[in-house]
Amino acid sequence: MLAKSNISKSNISKPNIREADILEKILPYVEDGERLLDVGCGKGKIAKIISQKKDVLVVGAEIYDSNCCIDCKRFDGCNLPFKDSSFNTVVVVDVIHHADDGLKLLNELCRVASKKVIIRDHYYSSWLGLLFLKFVDWTTNIIHGVSTPFNFRTKKEWEKDLASLPAKNLKIEYYPKFGIKNIVAVLFL
Ligand SMILES: C[S@@+](CC[C@H](N)C(=O)[O-])C[C@H]1O[C@@H](n2cnc3c(N)ncnc32)[C@H](O)[C@@H]1O
Repeated sequence: MLAKSNISKSNISKPNIREADILEKILPYVEDGERLLDVGCGKGKIAKIISQKKDVLVVGAEIYDSNCCIDCKRFDGCNLPFKDSSFNTVVVVDVIHHADDGLKLLNELCRVASKKVIIRDHYYSSWLGLLFLKFVDWTTNIIHGVSTPFNFRTKKEWEKDLASLPAKNLKIEYYPKFGIKNIVAVLFL
């Protein structure tokens, strides 16, 4: 068990619908006592809530100065300023499709993690689905000035990239049946 989390347990942040859904998928994989890195953490709300629900030490990494509510390091979107295996668990939520080279970033996440990498992102299975994702991504990111190269993947493309990573085991969940299609993948290193 960690001596103490680096985030106050008071004023537990209330997740919105999207964040609650993401937390439901991620929290079962986070264990007390871990050091957890949230890459592309934005303002850090998801990592902050994780640290309030579990006895973990959280750190974020962001490419922008995002007025983050957790300890956060700036990085260039590809190379993380941490030594190999610095964290037990690395999470990356709705970020990979923003990266110019998502596979390179995924490999970098595996480098700094010792136990698990938890990826949540989107996938598409038709041109209409891709168009929908592009529309939602553009409209929700433009106001924050976040670049949107629309590097979305199909299930097949996700599975090819994930299988190429140095993991001992891989668990993938695709959900929901309707609406924006999401993937949660857990790489056990
Ligand atoms: C949709 S937001 C998600 C923020 C946060 N993970 C969440 O789920 O609330 C995408 C985040 O990815 C970051 N980002 C954008 N391009 C990136 C890149 N090339 N590599 C890593 N992060 C990037 C952005 O700064 C932004 O904070």
